[in-house]
Amino acid sequence: MIIVRFAPAHRPADYHPLAARPFAPFIKRMQRTVVKANKFAFSSAADPQADGQEKYENGGNMGAIADSDAVHDIRRILPQHQSALTLLNGKLQNPAVQSFRWLDLACGKGQIISQLEENLSANQRQKLAYLGYDINVEHTRTAERMADALQFASYSFQHGDMSSFNGVVDSGMKFDFITCTNTAHELQPGAFAALFLDALRRLSPKGELFVYDMESLTKPELGALPWRSAEINTLLNAAFEVLGTSFHVEPSGWSHSTCKGWSVTIQREYIDKTDEQIGEAQQQISERLESEIGKILDERLQECNRMLDSFCRFGAETADDATAKLLALYEFWALHRAKEVRQ
Ligand SMILES: C[S@@+](CC[C@H](N)C(=O)[O-])C[C@H]1O[C@@H](n2cnc3c(N)ncnc32)[C@H](O)[C@@H]1O
Repeated sequence: MIIVRFAPAHRPADYHPLAARPFAPFIKRMQRTVVKANKFAFSSAADPQADGQEKYENGGNMGAIADSDAVHDIRRILPQHQSALTLLNGKLQNPAVQSFRWLDLACGKGQIISQLEENLSANQRQKLAYLGYDINVEHTRTAERMADALQFASYSFQHGDMSSFNGVVDSGMKFDFITCTNTAHELQPGAFAALFLDALRRLSPKGELFVYDMESLTKPELGALPWRSAEINTLLNAAFEVLGTSFHVEPSGWSHSTCKGWSVTIQREYIDKTDEQIGEAQQQISERLESEIGKILDERLQECNRMLDSFCRFGAETADDATAKLLALYEFWALHRAKEVRQ
C-alpha cells in the first residue's frame, strides 16, 4: 500500500535576483511522500543519525545538515534522475550484461527509483543489484519500500556518513554504476572531494560514476554550500593532475527554468591508474584539494562580503534584493562554517 502525503511545494521564482550576480540561485522542491512496504534490509550502522549528530556537535566530519531533505514525489522525475537512468538503460540493454551492481550514494527517499517500473523494463530491473546508502534511516525506509516492489535481482540499504561509506560497504564490492545526485551541497567540501576518489576505487573496470548537483538553492538550507560547475572542474582536474592520469573531466552545466546545475560522469576505464595507485596518491591528492578548496572558499567569502557590504550600505530595495540578501547571509554562514570545520 502506498500512502502519499504532499506538503506544499516550495515554489521557486522563475527568476532569482542572485542569478544576475556572481551568486547562483538555488532551488529545491520538497514534496513529501510516505510509502509503506518492507523487505530484506541490509546491515546498518548502530545509530547513524546519532553518529552524524555527534560529529556535528564535535565540529568534526559532521553528519547531515538539519535542513537536509529529500524529494519524494512519485508523480514526476527530475531531469538529473532522467539523465542517470538513460545512461543506466543503455548499459542494461547490453545482452552480455546479466547482472549489474548499482550504488546510489545519498539515495535519500529513492526519488531516482520512484518511476523505475516505467523507466526500465522488468527484464532490465531483474538484472539490477541496487544498494542505497544514506545517513538518514527515515529517508531510506521510504526508498526501501519502493525498491521492494521493483523486482530487482536484489536490493539493500546501508547507513552511515558519506565520509565512511568505504568502511561501511563491504570492501570487496565493486559497482558498475554509482550515482550521487542532489547531495554535494550538503557535504563538507573536503568530504565531497574525497568522495569522488573513494567512489572511483569502487567502480568495476567498466563502471561509471554519475554526479549531479544544483549550483544554488532557491530555498536556502542552513549550512549548505552549493558548488559551481567551474569549481568542480578545478577540484577534480587538480586531483587527476596529482594522480598523473591523462584523464581530464569535463563537467556539464545545466540551465533549468528555475535553477542551474552541473553534472559529471567518469568512466573508470578512462583513468589509466590502478585502484592501488589511486590509493597511494590519496594523501597527496587530499593536500592539493585542501589547498584548492581553501582558495575557492576565500574567493567566495570575499564575493559574499562585497555583496553584504553593498546591502549594508545601500539596503535591499526590491523583493528580489531582499531574497538576494537572505541568500547571501546563508552563504556567509555556510562559508564560515566550512572554514571553521577545516581548521
Ligand atoms: C537532497 S537529498 C538527495 C537525495 C537523492 N539522492 C535525490 O537525488 O533525490 C540529500 C541526501 O543526502 C543525505 N546526506 C546528507 N549528508 C550526508 C552525509 N554526510 N552522509 C550521508 N548522507 C548524507 C541526506 O540524508 C539526504 O537523504
